[in-house]
Amino acid sequence: MAKITVYITGSIAAYKGVEVVRGLQKAGQVVRVVMTAAATKLVAPATLAALTKQPVLTSLWDSQDPIPHIELADWTDLAVVVPASADIIAKMANGLADDAATTTLLATSAPKVVVPAMNSHMWAAPATQRNLAQLKQDGVTIIEPVQGRLAEGYAGKGRLPEPESIVTDLQALLTADGPLSGCRVLITAGGTREAIDPVRFIGNRSSGKMGIALAKAALAAGATVTLVVGQVSVPLPQSPRLKIVPVESTTDLLTAVQREFKRADVLLMAAAVADFKPLKPANQKVKKRAGKTDWQLGLTETTDVLKTVAQQKTADQLVIGFAAETQNLLANAQQKLASKGADMIVANGVGGTNSAFGSDDDQVTILRPHQPADRWPVMSKKKVAERLLHQIVMMKSGD
Ligand code: CTP
Repeated sequence: MAKITVYITGSIAAYKGVEVVRGLQKAGQVVRVVMTAAATKLVAPATLAALTKQPVLTSLWDSQDPIPHIELADWTDLAVVVPASADIIAKMANGLADDAATTTLLATSAPKVVVPAMNSHMWAAPATQRNLAQLKQDGVTIIEPVQGRLAEGYAGKGRLPEPESIVTDLQALLTADGPLSGCRVLITAGGTREAIDPVRFIGNRSSGKMGIALAKAALAAGATVTLVVGQVSVPLPQSPRLKIVPVESTTDLLTAVQREFKRADVLLMAAAVADFKPLKPANQKVKKRAGKTDWQLGLTETTDVLKTVAQQKTADQLVIGFAAETQNLLANAQQKLASKGADMIVANGVGGTNSAFGSDDDQVTILRPHQPADRWPVMSKKKVAERLLHQIVMMKSGD
């Protein structure tokens, strides 16, 4: 069951958008709807409100909630624009946010699917093709229109595919074959940043490579992945089964992980999280002062995200942490396994010549409660990720 937001826009095929909503519901998905002003001229919002048993978002100004679009954007697992007019495609390609639909789309970090429907000349127009190319580059999946008779009375490319076939395509995008098919994997990657003032921060050397390798391996194994990502130095993967939630500070990370963990089967906590943050971040840039060469920065401990979430886990959920150690690797990692309440700790050495930070390779030791430590040889982070995912499949099947 996925949470899908369907955006119906001003195309004659708007009525088919209603059928797509019905089809998704029949397939067991939970659907909420956003409509543009033009779409409401073609289909009554009340029809969709009745079908979904949820208010339809048509304006940012109707509800008591001053930011209804953010709640909906955060709720969404998959955003589907169907039918997508030339206008919404142009706006999405350029990041415009001038109504409820465009604002919510821009605020949505969930994967997006666009199903265009328009006159064949509008479809073929260089501007539309340029905008579609931009959307593809941004990671949006396009379900292409088909050849057929258009509302104008002549044949051409621009017709919306039949709703049934759109629903089949969307179902296929949401599920994939593999040992983790249907499994929801939550992964954190990269380093957090704690603000000292508006220009300075406390950060760390994490590249995010391990977390991103895990996301790729989980997607390849058929899982649906949410990647909560801090600072990384490598490109993020793109997939209709991948939701990306960017974060900066440990507090942002905690909020995102707590929200997403409720529906996750597995948490892989690969992020390098700050342990301390400035007590009082300054609102303005801290200036140098004549005669004052010292700066004592007061720090306070951050919340331990892994430990907090592990305390909330149900018997079906797996929580896996990482341990970055510069000395006494095994003893420190064993201690973390117990103190954090994790089902597994992946321990690796950092610092010195054996540093995992920024490297493509890693040498890890796997620790699980009541099991001997399992030292893996040096291998690529890609390989480590694949082996870890394999272990998770085994653990989920009771091993
Ligand atoms: N972690 C976390 N929240 C924190 C600090 C760490 O969730 N505030 C997680 C990391 O993502 C990792 C695990 O805890 O999965 C261990 O992180 P590590 O930095 O190795 O250890 P710390 O718990 O920070 O302890 P120490 O700094 O004393 O080694």
